[in-house]
Amino acid sequence: MQTNDFESIRNQAEAEAKNITTPQGLEEFRLKFLGRKGLLAQIAGVIPTLSKEQRAEFGQKLNILKSALTALVEAKERSVIIKDSGSGVSRADLGLPGIAQELGRLHPLTQVIDEICAMFSRMGFIVVEGPEIETEYNNFTGLNIPLEHPSRDTFDTFYIKQGMRDEGRETKYLLRSHTSPVQVRAMKAHKPPFSIVVPGRVYRPDAVDASHSFMFHQVEGFLVDKGIKFSDLKGILEVFAKGIFGENIRMRFRPHFFPFTEPSAEVDISCIICQGKGCSVCGRKGWLEVLGCGMIHPNVFKHVGIDAKKYTGFAFGMGVERIAMLKYGINDIRLFFENDLRFLKQF
Ligand code: PHE
Repeated sequence: MQTNDFESIRNQAEAEAKNITTPQGLEEFRLKFLGRKGLLAQIAGVIPTLSKEQRAEFGQKLNILKSALTALVEAKERSVIIKDSGSGVSRADLGLPGIAQELGRLHPLTQVIDEICAMFSRMGFIVVEGPEIETEYNNFTGLNIPLEHPSRDTFDTFYIKQGMRDEGRETKYLLRSHTSPVQVRAMKAHKPPFSIVVPGRVYRPDAVDASHSFMFHQVEGFLVDKGIKFSDLKGILEVFAKGIFGENIRMRFRPHFFPFTEPSAEVDISCIICQGKGCSVCGRKGWLEVLGCGMIHPNVFKHVGIDAKKYTGFAFGMGVERIAMLKYGINDIRLFFENDLRFLKQF
């Protein structure tokens, strides 16, 4: 058999393959060339008559031809089947639904933090962050909570390292128990006027239950300028509360104590479940506590080097989990941290 015989068979097959349009035609083609009694099998029949040297070369050429024709049949198979789909012979079911790509999404707490920060951004506040490992000075002393002051007990704290030096002072490090230490940092770094919101994690050694977690999130806000009054604070917080909970929400300011604000208040909103009539969510009171706030204490200004005769300002701090729980009617804080997709997919 001559070299050009292999070539002419290949040319013949390629020419014939072009005219195949049906699966049946393809099967006939396959039998004709590659079948047990096909052309290639017949050609292979001459092998025993060849000399040893001829066999090697012949066998190699035959194999090349065979794989070329097999590839041709496979390629043709794909195109014929696609054209033929619907006739019942096809193997690929194009009517089958695709495999959907699962999309991730933001954690509900991240969504609420973003929403709160966006709302204050629209009112001109800038968003800054501070470290979760703080000095005792920033977490307490700079906020007018002196050493041994009993009010420190209300901010139970995780201490982590003793006796380190910070700005020349002997200091303890701790996991911040609130976002208020960022007030100290920011007020040292910026000259008034400024208005800043600070989202972030805070830590308290509380036993975990439906309403407590050793780690949770706060958003702190503060504004300092000449002539800032308590009514400015009320106005800003009203815009915030209506933006988050809806236009019909009512607010009340209850006198309270914080060492770093004077006067201080806790802010309640009318219960979003019973609209203030009294139900089990609000403990029949009709009101829900959402944040702490007040006018920045002159002693805080003294610590950060702002002239309290020239400037006044307000500050507020809220728990993000609490806001999210009220907004979405979630009754257990642990749901936020368990990574259960059945919960998380709802947001
Ligand atoms: N830091 C306070 C807390 O964690 C909240 C607060 C912030 C109160 C700013 C007044 C002003 O409870």
